[in-house]
Amino acid sequence: MPPKTSVHGTWSTRWAFILAATGSAVGLGNIWKFPYITGENGGGAFVLVYLFCIALIGIPIMMSEIMLGRRGRQSPVNTMHTLAIESGHHPAWKYLGIMGVLAGFLILSYYSVIAGWALEYLTKASSGDFAGQTPDGIKTLFSNFIDDPKHLLLWHTIFMVMTFIVVARGVRGGLEVAVKFLMPALLVLLIILVGYSMNTNGFGEAVEYLFKPDFSSLGWGSVLTAMGHAFFTLSLGMGAIMVYGSYLPKDASISKTTFTIAAADTGVALLAGLAIFPLVIANNLEAGSGPGLIFVTLPLAFGQMPYGTLFGSLFFLLLSFAAWTSAISLLEPAVTWLVENKNMKRVTATMTAGITTWAVGILTVFSFQDGSPIKFPFNFVGEKKENGIFDLLDILTANIMLPVGGILIAVFAGWIMSREASRDELEMGEGNAYKTWRVLTRFIAPALVCIVILQLFGLLDPIFALFAPIIDLFSK
Ligand code: TRP
Repeated sequence: MPPKTSVHGTWSTRWAFILAATGSAVGLGNIWKFPYITGENGGGAFVLVYLFCIALIGIPIMMSEIMLGRRGRQSPVNTMHTLAIESGHHPAWKYLGIMGVLAGFLILSYYSVIAGWALEYLTKASSGDFAGQTPDGIKTLFSNFIDDPKHLLLWHTIFMVMTFIVVARGVRGGLEVAVKFLMPALLVLLIILVGYSMNTNGFGEAVEYLFKPDFSSLGWGSVLTAMGHAFFTLSLGMGAIMVYGSYLPKDASISKTTFTIAAADTGVALLAGLAIFPLVIANNLEAGSGPGLIFVTLPLAFGQMPYGTLFGSLFFLLLSFAAWTSAISLLEPAVTWLVENKNMKRVTATMTAGITTWAVGILTVFSFQDGSPIKFPFNFVGEKKENGIFDLLDILTANIMLPVGGILIAVFAGWIMSREASRDELEMGEGNAYKTWRVLTRFIAPALVCIVILQLFGLLDPIFALFAPIIDLFSK
């Protein structure tokens, strides 16, 4: 039998959970990653696929993940173990939890390096480095910075220490307050930035770029990236939300909570896009320039707008906070597992997990320099492009481990857990809402994820060929 409450504690209210889970979801994924992958994958069609994935895959899987967490009330590893046994299945389901712990390590290792960029830009913004800079000047500022591994390592270390401190004290203290004030502040600042961008001459074109889909240029690699990002941005597929769900009081509504989190997360990403692409267009920058995108576009705007030093500092401060509240949730599953299974104190567990992650992060630190020794002449989606360790870790985790973890969570919630158990835990009665969740979780979400992954290797080509005449008929 799972315990009635988690040994690691419980959220004080439903709102505390919403704030913490939103803090986990809203982070670099929304403000740094979403704009640059949108730019790399051609805009509108990519955004549309991403929105579909949030609705059809992300939301039902988030409900499932919270539900499993609340029912199991332990670390993801032990939650999966206990729930599998409870429903008469093989305890090997715990390996799903273990894969999650591993994915969390790998993601945090590079996430922390990028969060370090935000910290560096906080210091740059506050010392007025952007004022009056040309686009070329700002680009040089960025490339000089990422060419300097010592500097990157320093910020990576500082950010990891910040993350240790919160996790070691337990995620419930402190986090609530941070999220309650800082998330709304970030939102206000983003709206100010969108306001600024509206007055550049790129706004109309940017709206068209983001919302007018052109499917002719969308490959399966891009579809996979959009789907992987739906998992990444909602923090799904590795047990982070499951662990947060394990601290959720029994009387909170899982479906309402999920909609709130998903809406906030998607809203922030779209606002970030609306703030950034007008600047890209107005300044003739390259939309597909990769991970440096926001570190080049936004400083340009801060360098030109009134009170730019103030707004710039505030923006990078809030971005660092958003990254911080996300990083915490990447470490939490590993820490709860070490505490429960290896008999460690919370502090020792945090140190063990944190130092391992920090060490893996060094690989990312050394993957941005020109002529860096760690480069691979390929990536998983078949494009011939030079990739550093960072790209490989990103593709491996966001595009493979999270979707695979996510389908397994859906399969568990939809097929292994009994109908009574999920209906009780979700508390939606037998109405249409519950039925929709069940169909999405049992069939639609796993099928969509499988289709995308199989087609990436061209395995569905014969089947698509069969349908080609029909598709042709419609496209005429
Ligand atoms: N969702 C966060 C972001 O968008 C990153 C993150 C936090 C995450 N916890 C996670 C991603 C768990 C995947 C799994 O920045």
